[in-house]
Amino acid sequence: MSKTVTLQTLLKMKAAGRKIAMMTAYDYTTASLLSASGMHVLLVGDSLGMVVQGHNSTLPVTLDEMIYHTKMVVRGSDGSMVVADLPFMTYQVSVEDALRSAGRLMSEAGVHAVKLEGGRQIAPTVRRLVDSGVPVMGHIGLTPQSVHALGGFSVQGKTAESARRLIEDALTLQEAGAFAVVLEVVPSQVSQAVTKRLTIPTIGIGAGPQCDGQVLVFHDFVGLTSGYIPKHNKQFAELAPIVRSAASQYIQEVADGTFPGKEQTISLSEDDQKWLSAIQEGDPYATGQ
Ligand code: KIV
Repeated sequence: MSKTVTLQTLLKMKAAGRKIAMMTAYDYTTASLLSASGMHVLLVGDSLGMVVQGHNSTLPVTLDEMIYHTKMVVRGSDGSMVVADLPFMTYQVSVEDALRSAGRLMSEAGVHAVKLEGGRQIAPTVRRLVDSGVPVMGHIGLTPQSVHALGGFSVQGKTAESARRLIEDALTLQEAGAFAVVLEVVPSQVSQAVTKRLTIPTIGIGAGPQCDGQVLVFHDFVGLTSGYIPKHNKQFAELAPIVRSAASQYIQEVADGTFPGKEQTISLSEDDQKWLSAIQEGDPYATGQ
């Protein structure tokens, strides 16, 4: 990618009606591939707790783990903007905690912006972060860090009251200085209403086509996750069967000796084999000279 994507780029894209593509990445290789494809934003999501670490929620992810993964993504990003999640309880207890956590992600890992879950209740924190030079992306609707409070990973904004709350939360985050808002698992008509009211971009996941951008979890996008596939996900590739079949073939070839073959084997020249024979025959001074 030639030009670095900044939050100003995203604001201009919304104003021009150009859609924003965001994808999660948790390591250098994936970040490099996605950046080279022109991905506007790489999100080091705390979803890594589920798709990389194997937990059943995002709650166990620590700030040190986020910093570890974010460093790799930043190294692989070439022009894409990198946003990282502040993990559970690293910003909810106090504004000072939020400043310290975001500060570490920016200074130690080199991230360009942080993402926080929540609406009006975290607006004062968003304000302080933004005033301190930390660009903030909001995240409302289904907020996975509140999975137990929400009673599961369920659709949000399905009633008049919760839709109104969602719109107000989005406006409050914009007012507090957020430069974009993720809308997760929200009916498309509600995200359309939010998108129309905001001057900052909305980035949807399971929130319909009217959002200003879309985000997917990388492992879902390339078909690497097994088990439950959310309705909103589209597998743009199906890598799991390819990896499984390659692994079976490898095991078979190791077992029957066809791997490694001649092409994968490093051999000594016939001359050099002479000093090897000498060593094998017990000559301690064999040099191959
Ligand atoms: O953690 C994550 O990957 C996210 C996206 C699903 C938006 O927050």
